[in-house]
Amino acid sequence: MTKIILDCDPGHDDMMAIMLAAASDELELLGITTVAGNQTGSKTFENARKIITLLNLDVPLARGADKPIVRELITAPQIHGNSGLDGAELPGADAPYLGCHAVDFIIDSVKASKDKITLVPTGPLTNIGLALIKAPEIKKNIEQIVLMGGAVYDSNMTPGSEFNIFVDPEAAREVFLCGLPVTMVGLDVTNKSLMSFEQAEEMIGWGGRISSVVGPLMKFFGQSNLDYFGINGAPIHDALTVATLVNPDVVEFENWFVDIETQGELTRGQTVADVYRVTGNEPNCRVAMKVNNDLFMSIMMDAVKKLDGMVD
Ligand code: RIB
Ligand code: CA
Repeated sequence: MTKIILDCDPGHDDMMAIMLAAASDELELLGITTVAGNQTGSKTFENARKIITLLNLDVPLARGADKPIVRELITAPQIHGNSGLDGAELPGADAPYLGCHAVDFIIDSVKASKDKITLVPTGPLTNIGLALIKAPEIKKNIEQIVLMGGAVYDSNMTPGSEFNIFVDPEAAREVFLCGLPVTMVGLDVTNKSLMSFEQAEEMIGWGGRISSVVGPLMKFFGQSNLDYFGINGAPIHDALTVATLVNPDVVEFENWFVDIETQGELTRGQTVADVYRVTGNEPNCRVAMKVNNDLFMSIMMDAVKKLDGMVD
């Protein structure tokens, strides 16, 4: 069983990542930490509390950074709405939470674990970058960092960058160059990991406590992606990232050296992948470049159905 800490900015697809992690026997969810990204830090934290309440999860929750390490925060209301989770009413944010900062929760949890922990960030990498800066010694007890972010040939913030990396490129560079194995699940595969509007309607038809909320949220998320990017469905970026730990057959990887552009004006936050190995640098990253979306969707739909049965 893989022990993970999920660092997220819910966010519709972050919610699906939390759900998949909660439903998967292959994973032990040691904690959830939140970061500003899709919406402000207060809103992503509130959304995480609502999701944990909905799922009736017993999991530690800690709030993290409200802004990137250096830059000003940029959010994504055009995709996730003003709340960061528009499209359905969730139960109140009643889930308990820890008083410590997410960075300290990550550091303390990694230090205390008898087994190595896998960090799974699905938002801007601010918390992870700060944890590695504050306590680099934790690297010896981290198995790998499996992150949603970046792209080799795709983009969604500028023509050359993806949102999570664009928002905090300095934190991202800290992570990609920290020396730990990094798995990058980027837009090259996640923009193909689409839940269709028909699948969202199918979930609504199940009438379960979880599916009745997830279906409308996926319809909202799919519509905003259709309106803004012309993508015909809901690209559940973050859930695919978790799915690579549930069933590695959902994606195929390439091993490349990847660095992060932090100085460029047009290229801020670009994940620069050495696909032709011209730098002479050893690969530091497994980059997901192919996705089996049928397999992924079957995993995702089964997870929601399982949660319907788990949560009365
Ligand atoms: O670019 C997509 C990523 O940015 C996803 O993680 C989404 O939730 C947002 O955080
Ligand atoms: Ca996210």
